[in-house]
Amino acid sequence: MKKRLKVLLIFNTPYLTPRGYDFKEEFSDEDNMYTENDVHKALLANGYEVRLLGLFNDIVPLLEECREFQPDVIFNMVEVFANKTHLDKNIGALLELIGIPYTGTHADGLFICNNKALSKKILRFHRIRVARFHAFYRGHKIWRPRTIKLPAIIKPLAEEASRGISQASIVDSDEAFKDRIKFIHENMKLDAIAEEYIVGRELYVTVMGDKRLTVLPPREIKFGQLPEDEPRIATYKAKWDEDYRERWGIKSTFAGKLPDGALANIEDVCKRAYRALNMHSYIRFDIRLTPQGQVSIIEPNANPCLARIDEMAQSAEKHGIAYPQLIRKIVMMALARKF
Ligand SMILES: Nc1ncnc2c1ncn2[C@@H]1O[C@H](COP(=O)(O)OP(=O)(O)O)[C@@H](O)[C@H]1O
Ligand SMILES: [Mg+2]
Repeated sequence: MKKRLKVLLIFNTPYLTPRGYDFKEEFSDEDNMYTENDVHKALLANGYEVRLLGLFNDIVPLLEECREFQPDVIFNMVEVFANKTHLDKNIGALLELIGIPYTGTHADGLFICNNKALSKKILRFHRIRVARFHAFYRGHKIWRPRTIKLPAIIKPLAEEASRGISQASIVDSDEAFKDRIKFIHENMKLDAIAEEYIVGRELYVTVMGDKRLTVLPPREIKFGQLPEDEPRIATYKAKWDEDYRERWGIKSTFAGKLPDGALANIEDVCKRAYRALNMHSYIRFDIRLTPQGQVSIIEPNANPCLARIDEMAQSAEKHGIAYPQLIRKIVMMALARKF
């Protein structure tokens, strides 16, 4: 009989759980760990032997599990460690030391994507359009460089999921500009980035592959009845607060009709960006398509959300890749990769 592939599914948890914990309760709660549940079910549907491991702030269980279970591959869904977003790269780096293949972008890619200034520097070097920006590290002078025109958007330099992004992130005076940076430094205790505000439709574009790249059909966020004078951005509330989304008619859909030539342009820019950043397996770009037809990359998302209902899986399905097949492809790409 053919040996079943051994997959260790790792993800972050908001509390410590022992090895062997079954996550039945968490996975059966639809509002809780639904993404992990989706991936787990899909791995089982592929016939793999799967073990689960939740990580909070202790790395020893991962080392023990690797030694005992000897997985063929690790399905990496760890986005934060000890509540810190930037430590995701350390998990990848550790797995590289252990020598077990793991899914998604490698540690270098996680590092690049996590820092919104670094990824923009690389893209800009390769002449890929990004907003003008300036990084503000804590403990240094705050001012508005003349190269950054108002309105601007002020964000945490290295966060995800729109944490720290609200309507107040859009600033149109020098005073508001400085105040919002101070807010991120002092209240959130994080470094900040100021970017010129890019007007345009917001699209989410997944690119998959290593040698040959596939660009999946773009998704789009529609801002519904959000008043025209309010900035149309994916704030934390616009992304995660179902009541708020319903109140303003904010929807995530497939991209509506695009101007002639726009899709080919988007695909070309996203593929070039993927190569420029040296990404692996899959990433999702947040982009803006300006009224002049320019494609501006807002950010690359390494290891984007894999929930069935989320952008990447929806795009894959429209492209003809059913969910369990998508998860299998991700596993296969990890196994085929050589570091
Ligand atoms: N330079 C920009 N111009 C216009 N909108 C932006 C810009 N940067 C961010 N946004 C808006 O803010 C949202 C969140 O910003 P993003 O950099 O993607 O952060 P996160 O990593 O938290 O998703 C974007 O989806 C977009 O709506
Ligand atoms: Mg984003």
